[in-house]
Amino acid sequence: MKKFFKIVKDTNPELRAKCKEITEITPEIISFVNEMHDYLIASQDEKISQKYNIREGVGLAAPQVGRNIRALVVYFEEQTDEGVHIVDHRLINPKIILESVKEVYLSGGEGCLSVDVHHEGYVYRHNKIQVKAFNVQTQKEEIITARGYEAIVLQHEIDHLDGILYYDRIDKKNPFVQKEDAIRI
Ligand code: CO
Repeated sequence: MKKFFKIVKDTNPELRAKCKEITEITPEIISFVNEMHDYLIASQDEKISQKYNIREGVGLAAPQVGRNIRALVVYFEEQTDEGVHIVDHRLINPKIILESVKEVYLSGGEGCLSVDVHHEGYVYRHNKIQVKAFNVQTQKEEIITARGYEAIVLQHEIDHLDGILYYDRIDKKNPFVQKEDAIRI
């Protein structure tokens, strides 16, 4: 891991700010996004995460590492019928352009590298989304379609760019409220 980021916690008001659009995609911005990606992969390596005492994450947004700009990364591996599928997004200026009415939620709730105290409850998200963004890997503007867990992680990270944390979306009075028709995963 080339760069060791310090994660901004939810006790820091900077995490609540709305992040700025990136108007010029410079080589420095590209390197920064790739460094966030490297950090995420390192966090999933048990030896590295133990050595540096960092928590495992599947997504990271720029404000979580102290930059008020609209960039995020998502990385995880999932088992599918066809084998291991790697989900790897490195996005600049992501914008949700389409979202399903159908909702999805994690039965164990969500977690966040910036939140040290677990907040119990269901976070309902759109089950399918389309995101328009500049893809750092292809260096092109693209439209990404995501469903289920991938859609949850992307929505969680895009929320960070607007200063929103997952527990803001938990029903305070009834954290485990059951919504009909929502997909539980
Ligand atoms: Co988070």
